[in-house]
Amino acid sequence: AHKPIIFSGIQPTAVPHLGNYLGALHQWVKLQDNAAEGTKLFFSIVDLHALTVPQDPAQLKKWRKEAFATLLAVGLDPKRSAIFYQSSVPAHAELMWILSTVASMGYLSRMTQWKSKLQLPEDTTLDDSTARAQLRLGLFSYPVLQAADILVHRATHVPVGEDQRQHLEFSRYTANSFNHLYGPIFPIPEALISPAKRVMSLKEPTSKMSKSHADEKSRIILTDSPAEIRKKIKVALTDSEPSITYDPISRPGVSNLIEILSHLEGISCEEIAADFHTASLRSLKEHVADRIAYHLQEIRDRYITIMDDKTGYLESVAEEGAEAAQANSRETMRQVRDAMGL
Ligand code: ADP
Ligand code: NA
Repeated sequence: AHKPIIFSGIQPTAVPHLGNYLGALHQWVKLQDNAAEGTKLFFSIVDLHALTVPQDPAQLKKWRKEAFATLLAVGLDPKRSAIFYQSSVPAHAELMWILSTVASMGYLSRMTQWKSKLQLPEDTTLDDSTARAQLRLGLFSYPVLQAADILVHRATHVPVGEDQRQHLEFSRYTANSFNHLYGPIFPIPEALISPAKRVMSLKEPTSKMSKSHADEKSRIILTDSPAEIRKKIKVALTDSEPSITYDPISRPGVSNLIEILSHLEGISCEEIAADFHTASLRSLKEHVADRIAYHLQEIRDRYITIMDDKTGYLESVAEEGAEAAQANSRETMRQVRDAMGL
């Protein structure tokens, strides 16, 4: 059996938000802290993925560093986890090319990410010439890079939020296609879907909280001050029903607040709804804001210390992480080249 190898990544397209934390980063830290002897852990700032939509170079540079600092601030420990920028490990892009020679166009064209990023209707197909003209190759083939990220580390487990299930399925399919043609090089990676429900946007609670939403009040970022957290929760979109109930379908706004609280405190949504049943919406919001602020306090303090550091700490951690990731991926590429006759 393979020794467990855990890989996951996050895009540096803004400071990570509460959805990233509950859906991903918090789980990464728990996996790290409970990892069995011999488990290897790789966590990447996937900056090449950020390029699938236009980026301002100076802004991207800033976001990369902020995302890196966030991973350290939430509790990833460079002694146990390799933390690195994807672009520092060229084997990710090299394996992407190789996988693109086995990946299915039909499968990729059915995936929804390119349609949603271009804001095209779900039922758009590549026969549509407008869609073809707007679509850049990198946005279309993004899932192949994601498969390469995972497979280049021979990852056995990939902790992600619920929203990434479809992409992981594509990675498994592509690994199987490769193994079928060239021999059993890649373990078939398993998704470790976070127990947290998707955190929804505070402004539009029927879509997920995301870095790509223009309205900054739609998300709590991990570096928000307690005052900023209170302000955003106060204006979060809810409804005007008189009592507090947990009902994600007909009351998505209130239910999102309850789910956030549930995950932070380890109390069930039903229990929270019962406790607050006769309380005002205002007091629920105040309580949720206080608890978020409490849970993010330590992360925020560490983040500020890391960003203020003048000793090159972050850069040296990034260099060590890249070296560990290079060493691990070099071994994969040796096997891949050998199997393919390169
Ligand atoms: P975003 O979608 O905000 O750009 P990424 O694509 O970089 O975030 O995702 C990083 C990780 O965060 C992934 O594992 C993803 O599943 C998780 N994630 C992103 N948004 C949410 C959300 N609203 N709720 C739960 N998990 C999320
Ligand atoms: Na995403």
